[in-house]
Amino acid sequence: MPEGRMSEAALELRGLEKRFGAQTAVAAIDLQVQQGEFVTLLGPSGCGKTTTLNMIAGFITPDAGSIRLGGRAVENLPPHRRDLGIVFQDYALFPHRNAAENVAFGLRMRKLAKTEIAARVADALRMVRLDGLDKRRPLQLSGGQRQRVALARALVIRPALLLLDEPLSNLDLKLREEMRSEISTLQRRLGIATVFVTHDQDEALTMSDRIAVMRQGRIEQIGTARDIYERPASVFVATFIGSTNLVRAKPAGPPSEGLVPLATAAGPAILRLDRPLAAGADLLLAIRPERLQLTPTGTAPDGSTAWPVRIEGVTYLGGRLEIALRLADGSPATAHAMNLGAMAWQPGHVADAWFRPDDAWPILDGGASDGAAP
Ligand SMILES: Nc1ncnc2c1ncn2[C@@H]1O[C@H](COP(=O)(O)OP(=O)(O)O)[C@@H](O)[C@H]1O
Ligand SMILES: [Mg+2]
Repeated sequence: MPEGRMSEAALELRGLEKRFGAQTAVAAIDLQVQQGEFVTLLGPSGCGKTTTLNMIAGFITPDAGSIRLGGRAVENLPPHRRDLGIVFQDYALFPHRNAAENVAFGLRMRKLAKTEIAARVADALRMVRLDGLDKRRPLQLSGGQRQRVALARALVIRPALLLLDEPLSNLDLKLREEMRSEISTLQRRLGIATVFVTHDQDEALTMSDRIAVMRQGRIEQIGTARDIYERPASVFVATFIGSTNLVRAKPAGPPSEGLVPLATAAGPAILRLDRPLAAGADLLLAIRPERLQLTPTGTAPDGSTAWPVRIEGVTYLGGRLEIALRLADGSPATAHAMNLGAMAWQPGHVADAWFRPDDAWPILDGGASDGAAP
C-alpha cells in the first residue's frame, strides 16, 4: 500500500444514487468518514440508510456515484474483497455452527493457518466478552450474546471499515444501552472507522463522532451531536431529534456586537449569531424546551429574551416537569423544568418564559438552511 493510505478518508461517497423502479431510494449522497471516525446514518424508516450501506458493502450496485475505501475505488470489487466488517440487525449467524466457528468463517475463507485462526478467534471472543461460550450454537445464546458473536465475526478479519445496520434494534432497552457503550468503547480502542445505521436518536447522539441525518434518500445535515441538536439546519432535523418549540420570526434590525434582534410571534427576541441574517427572511426560531425557563413576570435576567406566557398545564415526569404554555399570539409551547421539589407553577398562572441569546437557533422557514445570509 502507498504511504498515503492512512491519510486518505476511510470512506468517501460521491454522488451516490440508487433507484428501485420509479422510486429513488438514495439520491446523490456525499459523505466522508475519516480514519477512526464513528459516523451514524440517522433517519426514519425508508429514508435509504440500508440501501446506502448495501452499496458500500457491494451487495447493491449504485446507479450513479463513486465509492472509495481508503482512497481506492471499489465499485467493481465484490463484497468479500472490500475489506469490510458487517453486522446486520438480524445477526445472520450460521445456526448449525458454534460461536467460534461463526467467528472463524471469514478467516477460513481467507485461508489463514489453523493456529492463527484459533488465536484470532479466541482474541475476538474475549474482546466481546464471550470467552467460555465458544462452543455454543446461536440458539443456545441470548440475543445480546448472538449480536456479540456477529460483532466478533466482523472484527476478527481486522477490516478497514466496520458497517453496522441497526445492530441493537432487536435487543431490549437495558441490553441496548449496555451494548451501545460496549460498541463505542471497542470502536475507539480499535480505532476502526465505522458507519452505524439507526433510526434511534439516542443511539446516534451517544455513540457518534458525527451524525448524518437522512431524509428521503438525502443527507439533510451532517455534524456532531451538538451541531445537530443545537444548530438544526431544517425543521425536519429540529423535530426528528428531540422535541423543540418553533416560533415564527423575522430579523428586526442590524446585528450589534454579534447580537441580532428579531421580531417573533411571541415578542421581541435577541440571538447571538456568528453570521448576519438575510433582511426580511421568514424564520422559525427553534428553542429546546429545556432552554425555555420560567420566572415571575419582569424578573428575567438582563440581556435575555423574556416573553409573556400563560401556564396551561403541568405534567409530572419524575425527574422533570413538562409545562405546557401559551405564547402571546395564542400558539402553544413547551418548557421543561427540573423537578426540584417546589411545584411553583400551576395552570392559569402568568409568567415570563426566558432564554439566553445562545439558546435559540433560526431556521429558514420552508428551507434547508439556517437562514444565514450567503
Ligand atoms: N430491493 C428493493 N426493491 C424495491 N424497493 C426497495 C428495495 N430496497 C429498498 N427499497 C425502498 O427504498 C427505500 C429505502 O429503503 P431502505 O434503504 O431499506 O431504508 P431504511 O434502511 O432507511 O429504512 C424504501 O422506500 C424501500 O421501500
Ligand atoms: Mg434499514
